[in-house]
Amino acid sequence: MSRVRKAIFPVAGLGTRFLPATKAVPKELMPVVDRPVLQYAVEEARAAGIEEFIFVSSMGKTAMEDHFDRNLPLEETLEKKNKLELLQAVRDAAIPDGQLTMVRQHAPKGLGHAVWCARHAIGDEPFAVLLPDEVLHAEKPCLGQMVEAQEELGGSVIAVIEVEREDTKKYGVLDPVDALTDETDVIAAKGMIEKPAPDAAPSRLACIGRYVLPGEIMSELGKTGKGAGGEVQLTDAIASLIGRHPLHGVRFKGARYDCGSVLGFLEANMAFGLAREDVAPALMKAMRAHLFGAKG
Ligand code: UTP
Repeated sequence: MSRVRKAIFPVAGLGTRFLPATKAVPKELMPVVDRPVLQYAVEEARAAGIEEFIFVSSMGKTAMEDHFDRNLPLEETLEKKNKLELLQAVRDAAIPDGQLTMVRQHAPKGLGHAVWCARHAIGDEPFAVLLPDEVLHAEKPCLGQMVEAQEELGGSVIAVIEVEREDTKKYGVLDPVDALTDETDVIAAKGMIEKPAPDAAPSRLACIGRYVLPGEIMSELGKTGKGAGGEVQLTDAIASLIGRHPLHGVRFKGARYDCGSVLGFLEANMAFGLAREDVAPALMKAMRAHLFGAKG
């Protein structure tokens, strides 16, 4: 079985929940503290051993590939001004020569369709999918845990968390084989349903935008029709692979911020700001002043 070397980042969506901000600026480039949301996902993938990065993009979003390119005049200026920490940060953001592939999705027909658009870049290898607006933080990064599970178990592996029953309608939901305890970290599944109504949901285990999938899913996606919301759903193709490829959920235990929503984005900025030694004291002071109306 081949190692997971490639990752797809679907970034062709419209970001309507963030309008008007996303009218000209892709939501994936909105910053959490000082790094764009998309950079967190790229770094998570890198830490999991990913070597080829495939962005499924759309018209008007070319700033994304520029962000991951080298900017030599900028680097030269920072070097001359002895701003070495910034220089390092700028260099670290770059994806090395030849490791970034851009493909286009002409219209936002759904996540399943976006992944299918990258079929020629994937071939028949297993690969990862990361939805960049889900920013995850854990001691051991989420995708790294999933890649390890996939190397042991094969098939499809998705990251899940437990959500409130009334929220199942917002997620892809896992149908586990066995009854679960809180200690079950790797969960064998017999199905998966996209956005089920609370009373039809097979569990409260919701997918949070990280997948490791067999290359064969690409031909399955080519046959998958429109599903929930009139879009081609990745969930439907994953479900139809069961039987040929096992499906497992890996329970994610760290912090998760849905940066596709205004509230999640604000929370992420607060959490990552408070985790930064250079930002935290002043941020705490400002927050105290706003909360209690006191300065200082
Ligand atoms: P979302 O549904 O969260 O993104 O898709 P969106 O459609 O851009 O956001 P809203 O709901 O209008 O605010 C999750 C991820 O999948 C990508 C999005 O760019 C996002 O990163 N996506 C979604 C595609 O690339 N193509 C699609 O057709 C749909």
